[in-house]
Amino acid sequence: MGRHDDSVSAAAAADDAAGDARLRPVDPHHPDPGVIGDAAAALRSGRLVAFPTETVYGLGANAFDPVAVAAVFAVKGRPASDPLILHVASIDDAMSLTARWSDAASALAEAFWPGPLTLVLDRSERVIDGVTGGGPTVAVRLPAHPVAEGLIRAAGVPVAAPSANRFGRVSPTTAAHVASELGPDVSIVIDGGPTQLGVESTVVDVTARRPRVLRPGGVSLEDLRGLLGDVDHVERDVHPVDAVAISPGSSLGHYSPDTPLTLVEGDPSLVGALEGRLAVRGLTCVALPLPADSATAARDLYSLLRALDTTGVDLALARLVDPSGIGRAVNDRLYRAAHGRLVVDAADATVNRLVSLVRP
Ligand code: TXA
Ligand code: MG
Repeated sequence: MGRHDDSVSAAAAADDAAGDARLRPVDPHHPDPGVIGDAAAALRSGRLVAFPTETVYGLGANAFDPVAVAAVFAVKGRPASDPLILHVASIDDAMSLTARWSDAASALAEAFWPGPLTLVLDRSERVIDGVTGGGPTVAVRLPAHPVAEGLIRAAGVPVAAPSANRFGRVSPTTAAHVASELGPDVSIVIDGGPTQLGVESTVVDVTARRPRVLRPGGVSLEDLRGLLGDVDHVERDVHPVDAVAISPGSSLGHYSPDTPLTLVEGDPSLVGALEGRLAVRGLTCVALPLPADSATAARDLYSLLRALDTTGVDLALARLVDPSGIGRAVNDRLYRAAHGRLVVDAADATVNRLVSLVRP
């Protein structure tokens, strides 16, 4: 295991985009007002700015500018039907974008904002069709990052921002990830260093009486339930139906590296056994070196997934982490990155199935 694991960790660390004129480095805690001012002016004049939040880097546009919002979809290659989150600098600004603010929304905003929580509510007339895909609701979030907060305040408008990656790819946790993936249509990439949490915000729909988690993220289900009692959520079924389970689903394959990733459940020796059996078949395989602690795993996950594609291995294996707290979001992203594939043994049928991922 050691050699390949080290190569993935090293590739994840060697993450340098020096010389890219779009990059504007700032101290994440005390960002230079000159850089924030330039970026805010760019947003107001209809250009796109990538910026750090506490979760991942966002690709921002003035949320009231239909041309800039359309450019976000074009730059990402994202379908116009997939709505954007509007980032705001205060609860009042969030309320002004919604038609009906609920008690649950107040409780959640007071408890977790600024922070990694996105609320879905009925939209107000101020919200343009371009950000909602024409739907009746809007997603709002007040991020906890001095750069994001400073930028939104200086721009004076809500900032529509998806994660700053190409559609379906792994979200960026460094400015170099953004710069390597998105072209010159992004005029400024504010470089505030690696993001703190590493996975996206929790998206909670509060339009119905019972709040429902649409995407697990930085605020845990336990924390939401501690505040609100009953909270619904979408549970992913990661149990295998045969040697290799493939569960098709619309969102599977999101967050995926090019290197085929498969989840492994069962005895810890199974990963080594699979690596050995795949080596006999002429395939190199690496175990994703995810830290055991789920907060650290969340922070490192996307860099490690990106690094897989630079190491030249044929296949990757990963074990799920403890599902409590932020571990639920880590496992959700791992499951999607693996296209729902999970193996539980190193039997012939399993090994054949893994080989067929590389040699169909
Ligand atoms: O942490 C985050 O949330 C990051 C940072 C940049 O803030 N943003 C982010 O945006 O992850 P994006 O676009 O990559 O993911 C937003 C998710 C998508 O799954 C989208 O479908 C969902 O939020 N969403 C947005 N508006 C929605 C709405 N009105 N109803 C339901 N889901 C919505
Ligand atoms: Mg995204």
